[in-house]
Amino acid sequence: MKLIFATQNIGKAKEVKAIFANTSIDIISLYDLGNNIDIEEHGKTFSENAFIKAQTVYDIYREPVAADDSGLSIDQLDGRPGVYSARYAGVNCTYEDNNLKVINELKALSEPHKAKFISCAVFYDGKNKIEAFGELHGKIILEQRGMHGFGYDPIFIPDGYNQTISEMDFEEKNKISHRAQSFNLLKEKLLDL
Ligand code: IMP
Repeated sequence: MKLIFATQNIGKAKEVKAIFANTSIDIISLYDLGNNIDIEEHGKTFSENAFIKAQTVYDIYREPVAADDSGLSIDQLDGRPGVYSARYAGVNCTYEDNNLKVINELKALSEPHKAKFISCAVFYDGKNKIEAFGELHGKIILEQRGMHGFGYDPIFIPDGYNQTISEMDFEEKNKISHRAQSFNLLKEKLLDL
């Protein structure tokens, strides 16, 4: 089955393609399709936003779609940046702007700065909607470390590790990440259909 993954994020697409490698499901991202549609994420939850993306892309291609909405939730910031993770430091901000904003907000607060990444993955084919969730717990550090990954990876250390996600290689991240968890679950549900 061809499955369009509703993302232009190359990092996300690489992670999800690796999860579906060696299955009968062939992942094609919006980036691969040369589609740079800007989908307005007006939902209040990761689940709502994931479905908005899936439905919007389904309406264009009329083919099975997978989408995810994900983000970082920091305990001391009452769950922020949450569903606003992508544009936390403002419209058109960079990943670094977001990281520096988080560091700035946490620097006066006591350690540890507990946080979690959350991912909601959804499949939609115009009839069936299947959802799966994943969470990765850890803490935020007040400096950016590492070169790999994207987003908040340079400031997030998963529980049980000393490295930020950006200091891990791709395979290590894709064993433990929130997105790996949600998409591995989604994969099982789809292969069971
Ligand atoms: P989305 O593309 O609307 O799901 O936005 C997700 C945002 O959350 C990204 O732009 C990142 O800032 C952050 N995020 C989600 N997943 C990850 C991850 O695996 N590592 C680091 N940041 C992430």
